[in-house]
Amino acid sequence: MPSMKIIDLRSDTITLPTDEMRKAMYEAELGDDVLREDPTVKRLEELAAEMMGKETALFTPSGTMSNLIGVLVNTRPGDEIIVGSEAHMLWYEVGGASALGGVVIRTVPNEPDGRLDPDIVAQTIRGDNIHFPPTTLLCLENTHNRCGGAVLTPEYTSTIARIAHERGLRVHLDGARIFNAAVALGVPARKLAEPVDTLGFCLSKGLSAPVGSLFCSTRECVEKARKWRKMLGGGMRQAGVIAAAGIVALEKMVERLAEDHANARRFAEGLSSIPGITVNLERVQTNIVNFEFPSNVADFVPRAAARGVKFNSRGGRWVRAVTNRMVSAGDIDEALGRLEKLVREAG
Ligand SMILES: Cc1ncc(COP(=O)(O)O)c(C=O)c1O
Repeated sequence: MPSMKIIDLRSDTITLPTDEMRKAMYEAELGDDVLREDPTVKRLEELAAEMMGKETALFTPSGTMSNLIGVLVNTRPGDEIIVGSEAHMLWYEVGGASALGGVVIRTVPNEPDGRLDPDIVAQTIRGDNIHFPPTTLLCLENTHNRCGGAVLTPEYTSTIARIAHERGLRVHLDGARIFNAAVALGVPARKLAEPVDTLGFCLSKGLSAPVGSLFCSTRECVEKARKWRKMLGGGMRQAGVIAAAGIVALEKMVERLAEDHANARRFAEGLSSIPGITVNLERVQTNIVNFEFPSNVADFVPRAAARGVKFNSRGGRWVRAVTNRMVSAGDIDEALGRLEKLVREAG
């Protein structure tokens, strides 16, 4: 019996490097990057800065470290930062901003479309008062992971950043999937980065590189970031070996994100025709599909996994699917067929 193909929709982080990336890694010109002597890392950083319209960039091991550095360079211990109630920085970054940055995290409810209401943000920023910690940083996320890959537009980003800047705050963008937003909107990523002071974006998600993230900002800010990265243990020596894959990711893998978006839509539309599955099609903007499985199917996620379709549970009956380069349109149809059968047999 032929083995069943595993269709892995847990995350776009499962993507493996392409053959072109592996070749570039093998051939990469290397040096000691802590001594600023790795030409491949320098090329990646220049390319990233250029694509984000920022003065310069710093290669970090992960999106989590880029976000933590965003807090460290923009605040002082005892400051207060504003983040969305569904932000990755709040949920999944081990509380690093508080533990290592010493900041108070204040949340503003995320709208289902990933935005923070500008009026609520304005009300949340503290005035000068002997009792209050100073509010010094606003953090945004684009695309928004827990809000189902929702896209923030350049117009919204400008509006909310202006409110923060007028009150003396800095703005950091968790742009782990900023290229998904750029491709979905049909705008260059730099348009989405333009209003913010600092941002991090990931190479190791939909772009398929094995490791890494870029922190982008002014030269002055990135100099500080470089020192923080060293303190955090993120100074990497012959890092060009992984940066080489990152260059391929930025040069060759951005446009194809549209395929992941089309597959997410195909999947969501297919799910919506399976009785008992709930999915809000309007919310499917990029490569993430949040859906609710039928109440009569207990243990949906492990049962789907037993049929070779892997998801991440979002708690309760909510499930997250993330399309990625390892999953084709044919795989999406195959997954839908297996899920339809699972639900039918359970009913
Ligand atoms: C929105 C968002 N920000 C940050 C990260 C952190 O990236 P990393 O896993 O590279 O630390 C992720 C990872 O899934 C993410 O989805």
